[in-house]
Amino acid sequence: MTVKRSTPEWLEEAVFYQIYPQSFCDSNGDGIGDINGIISKLDYVKKSGFNALWINPCFDSPFKDAGYDVRNYFKVAARYGTNEDIVRLFDEAHKRGIRVLLDLVPGHTSDKCRWFRQSALPARNRYSDRYIWTDSGWSCPQGYNWVTGNADRNGAYMLNFFLNQPALNYGFNKITDPNWQISYKDKRVKPTLNAMMKVIRFWLDRGADGFRVDMADSLVKNDPDKTATASLWRKVRAMLDRHYPEAVLVSEWCNAPVAVNKAGFHCDFLLNHRGKLTDLAFYRREGNKGTAYFCKSAHVSAREMLQLYLQELAETRGNGYMCPVSGNHDVERLSYFLDESERRVAFVFLLTLPGVPFVYYGDEIGMRYVAQQSKEGGFHRTGSRTPMQWDADLPNLGFSSANKLYLDVDRGADAPCVAQQMRDGGSLWNEVRTLAELRKARPDLHSDGEMTVVQCTDDGVLCYRRGESTFVALNPTDEERVLRVDVGGILFETGSFRRQNGQTLLAPQTAIIFEKQGE
Ligand code: NOJ
Repeated sequence: MTVKRSTPEWLEEAVFYQIYPQSFCDSNGDGIGDINGIISKLDYVKKSGFNALWINPCFDSPFKDAGYDVRNYFKVAARYGTNEDIVRLFDEAHKRGIRVLLDLVPGHTSDKCRWFRQSALPARNRYSDRYIWTDSGWSCPQGYNWVTGNADRNGAYMLNFFLNQPALNYGFNKITDPNWQISYKDKRVKPTLNAMMKVIRFWLDRGADGFRVDMADSLVKNDPDKTATASLWRKVRAMLDRHYPEAVLVSEWCNAPVAVNKAGFHCDFLLNHRGKLTDLAFYRREGNKGTAYFCKSAHVSAREMLQLYLQELAETRGNGYMCPVSGNHDVERLSYFLDESERRVAFVFLLTLPGVPFVYYGDEIGMRYVAQQSKEGGFHRTGSRTPMQWDADLPNLGFSSANKLYLDVDRGADAPCVAQQMRDGGSLWNEVRTLAELRKARPDLHSDGEMTVVQCTDDGVLCYRRGESTFVALNPTDEERVLRVDVGGILFETGSFRRQNGQTLLAPQTAIIFEKQGE
């Protein structure tokens, strides 16, 4: 079943900025970022060209998975502030024309959540079916992860991710053991979706503009083609269309034809999943060597990079958007994969594609991946979660006045910082800001504009037209290349190009945006 719906207009011009609240700005000197810190940096967000935020989970939690283990969905974690603070964040953001998405974790809770504690009791109660339990403590069927022996209830409970994240029960699609599996259509599992709807409404009523949705495809179990999971999300979408038509849901699904067309999400992320656009463009490595399209030593061709993307773009057009990302809190930073000259070309691509782009905090100044000990279930991801670098002349680079930080800042002498890059007209920050502003100002570059490939040659050059008259030409290789399209008025340039004998030659690591009428 494919859904045809209108999408909130504000997504057309949206350029998102992802904030990891632990690490953005510490306003009270306790060594960890907080909501008031984010509020104090909203002018920075706006100045950088962003008009929408996604904030990683900021709810009450034991933080065994950095907040993706929610204990209370209705309460901001004390370490970040209060519910009043976040309402003030919504208001202050809206005053500046910035929308705010929170992070919804619908697939699991913390094992310390009250719902789960009740569900684990031996006596039947209204939470007994809120999580997935087998009918005996000795039964842990293959194919899922279980915990047994941790509660007096005679059953094992299913995990959705880490040990402390029991799976919420939205039922099963294909039932293989009717003794304990409940159909997703059964009224015993309906309260789970209702509870999640309540969470959604609670925060939308207080001013949130929507949610990024964690593991959105994980709700119904044994649902190989995701039809049952999609049917639940369509109910959520119908509720939004009716009561909150401006609200937006962005799924962590990485399969837009299903997430957007079938489940009714407004947007779906393009993550580092193998074969997807951002994998082929930025992240792909063979051994220790980058082989993605934007690496000078690329093995991935422009054609290979675009093939599936263009197909999915055509399939989802008019229903919703794909969201290319510069990175996120789960992968090594972009600077781990691409050097600065490569990233400058990559940002032109990211910010001129159809869909809704997301920039991970700190990528706009080229923050590094700082490998270190795991924190709060981060493992290798911890190195991408270090504090934002505001000013090289301030203690802790301006992140916090504390002596001890939640996670240490990048102590490298050349750690890139906001204040210094703002003063340098040629900085990466200035490039990202200029591109974000250009994108918002030019309807051709908006989320829904056309993308037509006009040159895609085996020598690495890619040139595409967006909308009526805006062209983007890329040469990410380390050699000069011929552009077979006449260049019109330049709108943006990184690297350089020259004309010789009637040909246009793009210098190594060059990206240009130009306009040409009547094409
Ligand atoms: C995806 C999130 O991005 C990740 O950080 C988290 O650990 C898992 N989902 C589990 O919620």
